[in-house]
Amino acid sequence: MTTTPRQLKSLYEQGQNISALLREEKGCQHNTEEIIETAYDMQTGSYIAAMENAECAKHKKDYTSEIAKTVLSLCDPRSILEAGVGEATTLSGVLQHLKTEASSFGFDLSWSRVAYARRWLQSQGVPNSTLCTGSLLHIPFADNSIDVVYTSHSIEPNGGNEEPILQELFRVTRKFLILLEPGYELASDEARRRMDSHGYCKNLKGIADYLGYDVLEHKLLPFTPNPLNPTAITIIKKDEDAAPPSYILACPKFKTPLEEMGDMLFSPEALVVYPIVGGIPCLRIENGIIASKYEEVMGAG
Ligand SMILES: C[S@@+](CC[C@H](N)C(=O)[O-])C[C@H]1O[C@@H](n2cnc3c(N)ncnc32)[C@H](O)[C@@H]1O
Repeated sequence: MTTTPRQLKSLYEQGQNISALLREEKGCQHNTEEIIETAYDMQTGSYIAAMENAECAKHKKDYTSEIAKTVLSLCDPRSILEAGVGEATTLSGVLQHLKTEASSFGFDLSWSRVAYARRWLQSQGVPNSTLCTGSLLHIPFADNSIDVVYTSHSIEPNGGNEEPILQELFRVTRKFLILLEPGYELASDEARRRMDSHGYCKNLKGIADYLGYDVLEHKLLPFTPNPLNPTAITIIKKDEDAAPPSYILACPKFKTPLEEMGDMLFSPEALVVYPIVGGIPCLRIENGIIASKYEEVMGAG
């Protein structure tokens, strides 16, 4: 019998590993997006709560200051996106350290985490980010739309999907792509065994090289709260001459513009309506409702 989300929530509260439980229930070796979404949605609130812990807050401050320093050493971005933004406890620090006028963006598989992210950013005095739900495999942003795209341990649970995810992140990037992800190849044997058992990503630098990307740097970061999950930074440069598009949020399926219509986002190319739930655009392909007559009906008032 399938465990219901309510049962999973109570198992999570009892300290169980929800991803491992779902992998076993579904007979998967790797995490699917459904498993990742469910496991992370159940954890919503835990990252913000951890910021109450002084040691954790200090680590986050050092970590986000290092990310901001790296970004500024590369360029003065006009736009920045954290892909897999979680509760925005990393994005808030990066924006505070950047002290920039850049437009900021974030998306995540989990609606609950995006909702908490929005509240957290407001509480931290950085309220103007555009947030939505979305998948790393079908990013709801236009090609070359964001100067600096970065990830912070969001590719991590997507072992097996590294190549399509890197291609999607690179597509959206205009200048630099920065990955802060488990450094499998640079880690100890014990750490690698743990990463394997959790279905974590690996070989990001090797795949970027294979895809012909210009990898400027790949090394371990000194800040690692968990030595069994050390963070590696990988910096990838993209052609700066690419023209920015006239729109940023895009249909996740065709990467074409979206139109706000009747409190929803309509994709004229896909003939699909994407809902806005609690003020959050839900831009995963499976959130779309095919509605070829939507324009006609809504346009008619
Ligand atoms: C370890 S948390 C890190 C959150 C945030 N980046 C941070 O630094 O605090 C990983 C986040 O990535 C998101 N994520 C994982 N796989 C994803 C995918 N395929 N598409 C979109 N988000 C994803 C999860 O929902 C989760 O919120």
